[in-house]
Parts: sequence; C-alpha cells; structure tokens
Amino acid sequence: MLLATDHARLLLADRIGPGALAVDATVGNGHDTLWLAERVGPHGRVFGFDIQAHALSAAADRVAGLRQVALVHAGHDNMRAHLPTTAEGRVAAVMFNLGYLPGADKTVRTRVETTLAALQQALEVLTVGGMVTLVLYPGHEGGADEAEAVRGHAARLAGRYSATLAGRLNASGAAPQLLAIERLA
Ligand SMILES: C[S@@+](CC[C@H](N)C(=O)[O-])C[C@H]1O[C@@H](n2cnc3c(N)ncnc32)[C@H](O)[C@@H]1O
Repeated sequence: MLLATDHARLLLADRIGPGALAVDATVGNGHDTLWLAERVGPHGRVFGFDIQAHALSAAADRVAGLRQVALVHAGHDNMRAHLPTTAEGRVAAVMFNLGYLPGADKTVRTRVETTLAALQQALEVLTVGGMVTLVLYPGHEGGADEAEAVRGHAARLAGRYSATLAGRLNASGAAPQLLAIERLA
C-alpha cells in the first residue's frame, strides 16, 4: 500500500540531487531528515526543525556523522530566521509530516496558525521546480481543522504554484492525505 509518507518521497526524489538544500519542517525521530541527508549528500545541506528536544536528540543519533544536517530546536514558523540568506529561492524540498510524534505526548502537535505561517515561509524559500510536501492527518485530534486550513491555503495560491492533493479513496475520510505544492515559476 502506498502510504502518504512514501508518496512524499516518491514525488521529491527526482528533485533533490547532490548539493541541494532541503528542509525537514517536522523532524520527529528523523526518518525524513536522514532520507533528505542521503539525497543531498555531503555537499548539500538539510535544516531540520522540531519543538521537542527529545525528538531532536533521537534524530541526532539517527543522522550522527552526517555533517550536512543542521538540527534546530525551534518552531517551523521561525524557519526563515534560521535559514542562511543564501538559501532564499534555492531550497529544493521542504517536508512536513503534521500531527504528533507517535508514541510521545499527543498534545504536542502541529497547530493551524504555526503550520500556515511555516508553509508560507517554505513556499517563499523554494527554488523554481522545488516542492513542499505535507502529510495531513484528518483523523487526529485537531487534524481535520488543520488539514482543512492547509488545503484551503493551497487552493488559493497564485498560479506560480501548483498544488495537488492525494489520498486513499476506498478508506474512511480519516485516512492521511498528501498535499504537494510545486513552484512553477
Ligand atoms: C508526525 S511527527 C514527525 C515524524 C517525523 N517525520 C519522523 O520521521 O519521525 C510531527 C513532529 O512535529 C513536531 N512539531 C509540532 N509542532 C511543531 C512546530 N511548530 N515546529 C516544528 N515541529 C513541530 C512534533 O514535535 C513532532 O515531532
């Protein structure tokens, strides 16, 4: 079965080459951070954000020795302030995996206001041809409102972006969804 998280990687894989810049906006245990780091290689750079120190600590173990990774203990709504000015308009990929960290405190989760602020910043730092992916969890507590807000924001984007939504049709409305937003021009 194609999971939304795997789908995000499939869409991003060809856009992230050696030397690229990428952002993991929700590091958690660092699975996506490691995947991005392997794709950008030693001459690229991956910036990862999370608000939970213990998650970043687990992620740091996972990416140990990969000097292309910078883990930042900050909310993704502060993304631009933590990226070098040289990253503006050069970021190939930004990954969001919304919601809470499995197995951890479910009340520590992404929120509509900060998610929308972070998404806007992610769209602004993208390179032409770059993509933002968001895995949405309408079945989680607060997740339906967040998913709706994010989809609404994407639906109103200017024509220099292309937003595509994918989700499992023969499942409940609570199934995770993948929103992918590409910068066209
Ligand atoms: C679904 S988990 C991410 C899982 C991760 N991709 C992995 O591979 O383990 C969502 C993460 O978002 C983090 N988070 C929640 N609010 C955040 C915010 N405002 N900024 C950055 N990270 C946030 C949570 O702490 C949690 O670790």
